[in-house]
Amino acid sequence: MARHLITSALPYINGIKHLGNMVGSMLPADVYSRYLRQRGHDVLYICATDEHGTPAELAAKAAGLPVDEFCAQQHVAQKAIYDGFELSFDYFGRSSSEQNREITQEFARELKANGFIEERSIRQVYSVADGRFLPDRYIEGTCPHCGYDKARGDQCENCTRLLDPTDLINPRSAISGSTELEVRETTHLFLLQSKLAGEVEAWIDEHGKDWPTLASSIARKWLTEGLNDRAITRDLDWGVPVPADVWPELAAEGKVFYVWFDAPIEYIGATKEWSDEDPANRDWKSWWYQADDVRYTEFMAKDNVPFHTVMFPATIIGTRAPWKKVDFVKAFNWLNYYGGKFSTSQQHGIFTNAALELLPADYWRYFLMANAPESDDTSFSWEIFSSTVNKDLADTLGNFVNRVLTFSTKRFGESVPAGSPAGEAEQRLGEEIAGLLAEYQDHLDTLQFRKAAQALRALWSAGNSYLETKAPWMEIKTDEAGAALTLRTAMNLIHLYGTVSAPFIPATSATMRAVFAPGVTEEPGWVTAEQAAALDFVAAGTPFTVPPVLFAKITDEDLAAWRERFGAQ
Ligand code: 2FM
Ligand code: ZN
Repeated sequence: MARHLITSALPYINGIKHLGNMVGSMLPADVYSRYLRQRGHDVLYICATDEHGTPAELAAKAAGLPVDEFCAQQHVAQKAIYDGFELSFDYFGRSSSEQNREITQEFARELKANGFIEERSIRQVYSVADGRFLPDRYIEGTCPHCGYDKARGDQCENCTRLLDPTDLINPRSAISGSTELEVRETTHLFLLQSKLAGEVEAWIDEHGKDWPTLASSIARKWLTEGLNDRAITRDLDWGVPVPADVWPELAAEGKVFYVWFDAPIEYIGATKEWSDEDPANRDWKSWWYQADDVRYTEFMAKDNVPFHTVMFPATIIGTRAPWKKVDFVKAFNWLNYYGGKFSTSQQHGIFTNAALELLPADYWRYFLMANAPESDDTSFSWEIFSSTVNKDLADTLGNFVNRVLTFSTKRFGESVPAGSPAGEAEQRLGEEIAGLLAEYQDHLDTLQFRKAAQALRALWSAGNSYLETKAPWMEIKTDEAGAALTLRTAMNLIHLYGTVSAPFIPATSATMRAVFAPGVTEEPGWVTAEQAAALDFVAAGTPFTVPPVLFAKITDEDLAAWRERFGAQ
């Protein structure tokens, strides 16, 4: 069995994430990790908060907290939400960790030793009142295009045009408001990507052909546009410091690495955090260094693709050391919310904390994955959400489970009834189930989540069709043993659903498994085609319990209230 290393793009620390962030990185990575674990693979699923950079400083300032305290608090807040979504990270780290600092500095030393980092002097805006250079977005002023008076030096939020700080009319410091700004010379480290372009291209030629088009086309576009040398340091107080042994002057000036330099390295850093925290964990380095037996899959939204397919591989290639590069890049389009992107800065859409206040995680997990923006941007609407929940989860799955168990209890008591041996209908059902299971696995193996969700729903539907056809509530009037067989078979389907639905709806799946095995908490394995076809997981005589309703229906009143509360127009 191969070892699988899985990472999802590191959520930025500056605030609680929305459902668009969730569906584009962490949730699919979790579904895939859970699936592979159930199939018996050795899986390491790593994520972390991305804590450095200007947005973290600005958010801390807005919260009135020192940036390290702000990050520590936000890390805990985000982690609690991800626990609520049942994300099964093997480790959820922090890019501000000591481990990441050490590894990032070591990467920089190696890049320098190999001739891929150079010092260059550039001209940048300096605020005399603040005593510091200002990153582009720390400079505010009036937009020359639309007149908006709070435009930032990198972009105008009002008309979305990209700006240069020198474009702004009446520029001022976003920190102090001071207009005493000067352009001064400052030295930064540059990653010489132009020297690495050929090697990156050759690597993408070889490995990118297996990636989904969304990822490979974005990677190619970036390469075609040319790989420029890139400044990888910033004048900020918060970040991984430039190592003083190599660049004493820059270190003394307080330069730190650019957030996009240390963030992907944190995938490795967090693995070391995981290992340092618990000595029982296997050697972290074997997952990343000379790790030819490891298959590495990354999950991210499309705006992150260039950094992961071009810039981070260039960094790794430049170290000339055998660090693991990505094998498969699963990228996602945008999930839109009523005419615009979900947006943290504009507070537009549904945020992960609010979602969990409304409904348990499984409702969201299933809906989001069944509608994942895989081949196109997709739009969230409360109507589609409620009809998916009501049809697929409440009717097709939940109602099936409760109907079967309640009826059987009433007629045959609290253990699985024996009844007749399996007949032709059960034979046909078994074949159908085995076929659908193979499809489901196929889609999960190839990371096609919408199709996988469809196949899962088809497995649930097959149970409904069987039950409708056999109609045990009628059958029992003339053939009690036949009705018992129908119910026993349906209960075996419930057992199967409790196993194979777990990657998508882990909590409900545990409830289904507990029907026949109360108190058993261990994670389930997978089922073979033969086991699925035989449908004899639970023997006659096994005691069972009837769980509470698995999924509550969303009512018209709920729908109206949520539309109102979340501004759905
Ligand atoms: O887009 C984002 O939210 C970034 N924080 C993703 C970083 S991914 C990785 F490289 F760290
Ligand atoms: Zn503007």
